Amino acid sequence: MMPTHLRIRRRSFLGLLFLFSLSTSALYFIYSAPGIVNEYLFAVQARSIQIRKNVKTIGAQVLEQVVRGAYSINVTDYSYDFNFSESDAPPTAYLPEGFTFLPSQICPERHSSMKGRLEVNMSEVSLEEVERSLLKHQSSIAPGGYWKPKDCLPRWKVAILVPFRNRHEHLPILLRHLVPVLQKQRLQFAFYVIEQEGTEPFNRAMLFNVGFKEAMKDLDWDCLIFHDVDHLMENDRNYYGCTDMPRHFAVKLNKYSYMLPYHEFFGGVSGLTVKQFKKINGFPNAFWGWGGEDDDLWNRVQFANYTVSRPHGEQGRYMSIPHHHRGEVQFLGRYSLLRHSKERQKVDGLNNLNYSPLISRRPLYTNITVSLSRKLAPVADY
Ligand SMILES: *[C@@H]1O[C@H](CO)[C@@H](O)[C@H](O)[C@H]1NC(C)=O
Ligand SMILES: *[C@@H]1O[C@H](CO)[C@@H](O)[C@H](O)[C@H]1NC(C)=O
Ligand SMILES: *[C@@H]1O[C@H](CO)[C@@H](O)[C@H](O)[C@H]1NC(C)=O
Ligand SMILES: *[C@@H]1O[C@H](CO)[C@@H](O)[C@H](O)[C@H]1NC(C)=O
Ligand SMILES: *[C@@H]1O[C@H](CO)[C@@H](O)[C@H](O)[C@H]1NC(C)=O
Repeated sequence: MMPTHLRIRRRSFLGLLFLFSLSTSALYFIYSAPGIVNEYLFAVQARSIQIRKNVKTIGAQVLEQVVRGAYSINVTDYSYDFNFSESDAPPTAYLPEGFTFLPSQICPERHSSMKGRLEVNMSEVSLEEVERSLLKHQSSIAPGGYWKPKDCLPRWKVAILVPFRNRHEHLPILLRHLVPVLQKQRLQFAFYVIEQEGTEPFNRAMLFNVGFKEAMKDLDWDCLIFHDVDHLMENDRNYYGCTDMPRHFAVKLNKYSYMLPYHEFFGGVSGLTVKQFKKINGFPNAFWGWGGEDDDLWNRVQFANYTVSRPHGEQGRYMSIPHHHRGEVQFLGRYSLLRHSKERQKVDGLNNLNYSPLISRRPLYTNITVSLSRKLAPVADY
């Protein structure tokens, strides 16, 4: 007969084994299934469960660790600034009211007309009405939504690229909101709406690549803003010029309780100079359906030794127009593609892209309509 203590030992050994296997599957879950984890956390936030501020910070830290681990990106060189407080908007240095400058001078980045907090009007309006009201006051807007300041030399020539499908009620809301802001910021700009035709899943990234190539045929733009149609900035000091580093503008979204969902988040609105964009070979073309392409862009930027800059404090606030995903499918293969970001960067992007666009000028934007499919962006083995 077996001594009792041995039996207990064996039983607890089995118990340990059981606990161990539980914990490894938990680890597996955290490290190999980040999609589920962050989708879940997003869902929690989207249901706007109001987490108190201190809990928020801890949550963000945990989430960040999870995502970092899962993407297996080298993360030693950046650290999240949990410190930026609500009141740390740069104290000033905006030009005083009535300050005059010469038409031969470069426009200031901090013009006195940039006042900070903006009203956001999300009520629906027709495109014709927005065209009428903007053109009435601003006869200087040329077809394609092209505009340039007259009282100074624009610091940046900015092409605003908006990927599009099936969101006709959002576009006028965005234009009504953004055009006056860009004018206050004294930027030279035009809008390019790149619409995907056909039944393939939405490919936001490839639409941006197409928009870039077409926009560059118009004018030698030097700064590109990659802008979702449903994002409305809440602060006109969020300057849409470029910087010496790629910039992420949409830092605090109302749908994520105004906190950055994870440090590597690069979605919504981002901006790169033409030089930076070419250096990283543009966006990847391989992301069909929503999700992942912005994370891949983040990786590309890191591999090119850039660090992402962001507006501070309240300047990076946005509201997004509520909508349903309208049958747009989520891209489930994104995590396996993200593991090969580096190898794919050289072979998938601006350099393997073919397409035949249909282009028309509208008063406030250029319409680039394009049908996309996988064979338009062949990828050699890597
Ligand atoms: C991360 O850094 C280590 C050590 O520098 C290196 O061996 C590894 O390949 C890097 N991983 C990636 C994904 O770049
Ligand atoms: C937080 O910000 C304050 C004021 O800007 C600064 O003095 C302090 O060193 C910062 N703390 C950390 C941990 O970065
Ligand atoms: C918002 O837009 C609607 C539709 O154009 C307009 O009727 C309304 O006056 C606007 N609201 C504000 C506060 O400007
Ligand atoms: C990035 O920096 C590393 C280390 O300084 C260098 O080896 C690498 O060539 C750089 N990569 C690019 C794309 O410039
Ligand atoms: C762009 O042009 C296409 C083809 O003429 C048209 O079907 C589509 O509605 C237009 N889209 C926008 C956003 O103007």
